[in-house]
Amino acid sequence: LVASMEGPEETYIMVKPDGVQRGLVGEIISRFEKKGFLLKGLKLFQCPKDLAEEHYKDLKERPFFPKLIEYITSGPVVCMAWEGAGVVASARKLIGATNPLQAEPGTIRGDLAVQTGRNVVHGSDSPENGKREIALWFKEGEICEWVPAQAPWLR
Ligand code: PPS
Repeated sequence: LVASMEGPEETYIMVKPDGVQRGLVGEIISRFEKKGFLLKGLKLFQCPKDLAEEHYKDLKERPFFPKLIEYITSGPVVCMAWEGAGVVASARKLIGATNPLQAEPGTIRGDLAVQTGRNVVHGSDSPENGKREIALWFKEGEICEWVPAQAPWLR
């Protein structure tokens, strides 16, 4: 897949299986919604192994790779596409550090998680990866281009 860099900045956010099992989906969606980003894709999805491996392909040589794939495919995830200027870096701030014990209070991981291997949420690490990951996880027709009628002042 070749992600085009045209169009507004987008990020791929995913509630991981532990977040779904723990009932944190609404809480996590809320944080991005309240911040003011635009939700353009959302689904509950059981990730097949080949997709998990493609998504995390840069980590293939890491010792934790098999465990990471097992974790991500262990139950449904919630896939989201969010749009906004600066959304990639801002979402990473809202999510907090990879190791939840180092994540600041007020961040999603800082407030809701303790283990790196159960860190409840994923966010793309660059605008290029945002486009790449949205194209990987969503099919055509699953992404809505829209402008919120009640809050055009946020754009
Ligand atoms: S690194 O070292 O900077 O490349 O890694 P990092 O960006 O911190 O993490 C990349 C993704 O791997 C996950 N990760 C782990 N999963 C399970 N176990 C261990 N030990 C582990 N270490 C890192 C980490 O959560 C990142 O996944 P996402 O989905 O992007 O959060």
